[in-house]
Amino acid sequence: MAGTIPREFIDEVLAYTDIVELIDSRVPLKRSGGNHMACCPFHGEKTPSFSVSQPKQFYHCFGCGASGDAIRFLMEYEHQSFVEAIEELAQMAGLQVPKVAYSNEPQKQAPEQFELLDQVSNYYQHQLNHHPKSQQVQDYVKQRGLSPEVVKTFGLGFSPPGWDNVLNVIGAGDQKKIQTLFDTGMLIKRDEDSTAHPNKSPWYDRFRERLMFPIRDRRGRTIAFGGRILGDGKPKYLNSPETRLFHKGQELYGLYELKQALRKIERIMVVEGYMDVVSLAQFGVNYSVATLGTATTAEHLQKLFRLCDEVFFCFDGDRAGRDAAWRAMNNALSVIKPGKQARFMFLPDGEDPDTMVRQKGKAGFEAEMDQAMTFSDFFFDHLMQQVNMESLDGRSKLIDLCQPYLEKIQEGAFQTLMIARLSELADIDKASLLPLLGMQSASNVTGAPTVVRGNQFQSSSAHRVKGPAPVKKAIAYLLQHPHLAESTGDPGRFSSLELADIKIFIQLLDILQNDPNLTTARILANWPDKKQYQFLSSLAVEPLLINDETAISCEFNDLLQLFTRQYQQQRIAQLQRNERQQGLDKLEKSEYLQLLQALKS
Ligand code: UTP
Ligand code: MN
Repeated sequence: MAGTIPREFIDEVLAYTDIVELIDSRVPLKRSGGNHMACCPFHGEKTPSFSVSQPKQFYHCFGCGASGDAIRFLMEYEHQSFVEAIEELAQMAGLQVPKVAYSNEPQKQAPEQFELLDQVSNYYQHQLNHHPKSQQVQDYVKQRGLSPEVVKTFGLGFSPPGWDNVLNVIGAGDQKKIQTLFDTGMLIKRDEDSTAHPNKSPWYDRFRERLMFPIRDRRGRTIAFGGRILGDGKPKYLNSPETRLFHKGQELYGLYELKQALRKIERIMVVEGYMDVVSLAQFGVNYSVATLGTATTAEHLQKLFRLCDEVFFCFDGDRAGRDAAWRAMNNALSVIKPGKQARFMFLPDGEDPDTMVRQKGKAGFEAEMDQAMTFSDFFFDHLMQQVNMESLDGRSKLIDLCQPYLEKIQEGAFQTLMIARLSELADIDKASLLPLLGMQSASNVTGAPTVVRGNQFQSSSAHRVKGPAPVKKAIAYLLQHPHLAESTGDPGRFSSLELADIKIFIQLLDILQNDPNLTTARILANWPDKKQYQFLSSLAVEPLLINDETAISCEFNDLLQLFTRQYQQQRIAQLQRNERQQGLDKLEKSEYLQLLQALKS
């Protein structure tokens, strides 16, 4: 997994990173004792069980078990690849990722793909003003009312007429480049038979004679294109296919430009078209993005809610628009968290955001936004249209219709509000409503998993949960104070101990004795077994009762002694069994006596 980025570099990046700062900028943390806590971003919950430790540079959720170091966090939270996560951390630390990082195959291709796509984009932008046949596209841009500034900001370009422009100019007869252009969707391969013709290249340009919209990733690198036909014709828009760099369900057109334009993002407007985003930006509504010919996915929304608290959806007022809005609503249900809002805006027939902002200007458009429906109004309006609210039967049907949706909402204020609204609309008190929704009592409204929290080390007879087994405790000490391994002696002597988790303890000792400089996060990052990893990472952040170095060392030694005693007792019992069954030989007898002696002391 670590690819070929040298481990020393990863360690260096992590050494420059503060996991608390990194996570806090995405999930606000609250200090609590030695740790920083928040409601877990990886599962829905009301009370915080997500803990981040500064000394250990490690996070762990006691609710869902999510855990890891800064790299892991970016991978999980931002859906980044391992290499991307390191790149981001390196960038933050002002470090340069070594070139060897890309020596495995798929990784290696990526920079070339980005580079060629950037070349293509520059080429298209240049053609917009310089191609001999660019008059038509320039007229079209003018006719659509696009300003030169916005054309530049969004990097709009022109794919000239002809079948082999990108092929020849960017591919330049280099088979590797041509293959890469094909991989990024810029070239299409001809059918076998048509290439039989000696003059025909097996490749041709995907985009011809279109106004080009580069689609950029969060770092501004071009990853795909959309191209609009100049005038009427089909297809109106042609898009890059899904490629290694471009996943429609994840990308949002205009997001990079939006982030460039705004330091503080208060709200984001999701629209349907490329042209809408560009037009809105031109008129000062510079906070819109477009999905790329797909419905808004939960992934899209998560991305947006990470950036701001309020997301608007803008749809056509017609049937298709309403259906699309309902799909977006459905995907939003599970993503909305307390403090996050989604609103729905429906445009009059025949209008889209582009035409509307041109007609009404920024202020007029934003006034319409103020009228947008709240999530709950849209939700209940939509479902109430399917029943007769005048009859008891209709209202009971409404409850049934709502049930599967309400269930999907994360626990918390938003779900409570939605249930309260339904109770009002259906004219039934909350206590009677809950069972109808499959939710038993107020305390169970959330359907939250019951999680045993608290300090395992402190909980003793007062709790039902028993204190941790000594081995578990010893593992926690080792993880949190790796230097203890130095004076432990040969771990092999514990190998025949019949205690739970002893194998993990020995393995950990072994690793630490071989590499005394390992940090907690590195030990865990390289742990091969997933289940054990979960177990270990919870112990890595388990609060220890003592902080004093000497006391810790004493306590740890006591545990080791306990293991030794336990081993002695275990061995005595075994020798006694042997004695009864077949008698002991001389050596065994002497061992037995020695053990008895040792136990007495
Ligand atoms: P629209 O047809 O609403 O286009 O498609 P628009 O943005 O208003 O474009 P103009 O104003 O006519 O130029 C909305 C979006 O749906 C996708 C594109 O992403 C487009 O921006 N689409 C549409 C396609 O992918 N292919 C098409 O043929 C049409
Ligand atoms: Mn339009």
